[in-house]
Parts: sequence; structure tokens; C-alpha cells
Amino acid sequence: MQEGQPVGSMDETRPRVDDAIPADIQRTLCIVACGAGPASDVGKLVRLAQERGWNVQVVATPAALQFMDTVELKTLTGSAVRSKYLSPGESRSERADAIIVAPATYNTISKCALGISDTYALGVLAEAIGRPIPVVMLPFLNAALAARRPFERSVIQLRHEGVQVLLGSGQVEPHPPGTGPDHVGGFPWHLAMDAVERPDEDR
Ligand SMILES: Cc1cc2nc3c(=O)[nH]c(=O)nc-3n(C[C@H](O)[C@H](O)[C@H](O)COP(=O)(O)O)c2cc1C
Repeated sequence: MQEGQPVGSMDETRPRVDDAIPADIQRTLCIVACGAGPASDVGKLVRLAQERGWNVQVVATPAALQFMDTVELKTLTGSAVRSKYLSPGESRSERADAIIVAPATYNTISKCALGISDTYALGVLAEAIGRPIPVVMLPFLNAALAARRPFERSVIQLRHEGVQVLLGSGQVEPHPPGTGPDHVGGFPWHLAMDAVERPDEDR
């Protein structure tokens, strides 16, 4: 995608899903939650993915932790919510077959596009984008933030690298400033699952 192309349109460049995974092997989905209201409902996405046969790990940015019930999520997924790098010698998380960033904040989208890796969540993303696996971002932000030029450039940059940023008509539309809590309940988690499982259709 070229700079100047509308942020609602898609890119065609990157190899996508690992079709080589046999159907009888359970795929692992890593959900990266950022610090915005829908993070309190991330269990909805966990259940949706589990219903579709995915093993799920949850990673949280430090800011996301205040929104989330990490005990409930550990019970749901069978593994602790990760927000920090492990100490040397500790066992590593399973390598993910796909990543969903939801809710994806203005901050994480902007930093990720620049290649910044100063949290565990951004480190997971930085590496995932360099691998041929689906990476989907479901943003949650207001229209004032979404209108910023640096943000528009970030979305273009990420799409250029093959990240599916589900922003625009028919996907997530930024809400008016100050109305975030009104939109938490309608956050379209299913769009992210659909995109992970049908990554090539719109590309
Ligand atoms: C109650 C509350 C709601 C927030 N809602 C949003 C939001 O909807 N979208 C967003 O981009 N940032 C939101 N923020 C700001 C982010 O939490 C903040 O930018 C933080 O640095 C994001 O860090 P992260 O991207 O590492 O999760 C909210 C903050 C608070 C305290």
C-alpha cells in the first residue's frame, strides 16, 4: 500500500496463514490486549476462539492489566496472562500460529508501526509481524486520535507489512471522543476471529 492510500483499504503483499498445519493439530492463538475499555471483555474473544478449536494464550500490555480479570482468564485459558518477559531459565510460551491485538490502542498501534518493542506485548508483536502468520489488529479509539496523521501513517505502515488492521467502513469505526464506554459492549470481537481464519480473502 502506498502512503496517501485511504486507511480503510487493504494491502496485498504478505504471505499469510500457515496452511501447512494439519487440521488435527490444535493451533495456538495469542491475544494481545491493550489498555482500553474492551480489555475487560477479552474473555469473549477467548471463548470465541476456543469454540473454533484454538488453544489460546493471553498477553497484556501493562496498561491493559488494570482492565482485566487475570484470574478468570487463567482459568479460561489454562495459562497465566503474560505481561512481562520471562526470567532466564523459565519455560517459554508456546509459539503462536496467529496473533490478534484486541483492543488495539492508539498507543500500541503507533509504537508497533515504528518497530518499538519496549513491553513484552510489543516484543511479541514485533517478532510475529516478521513471521508468515496472520496478525490482526482490532482497534478501539476515538475519532480525534484516529484523525492524527501519525496514526494514519502507522495504519498504512502496518498494512504494508501485512498486518490486518480492521479499521474503516464495515470494520471498527472510531467513536466520538468521550463516548468510549458506550461502545465497549458492541466491540466486534468476531471480526478479528473471522479475519484470522480467512486472512487471504480481502488481500
Ligand atoms: C479508562 C481508560 C480508558 C482508555 N481508553 C482508551 C481507548 O479506548 N483507546 C485508546 O487508544 N487508549 C485508551 N486509553 C489510554 C491508554 O490506556 C494509554 O494510551 C496507554 O498508554 C495504552 O498503553 P498500551 O497501548 O500499552 O496498552 C484509556 C485509558 C484509560 C485509563
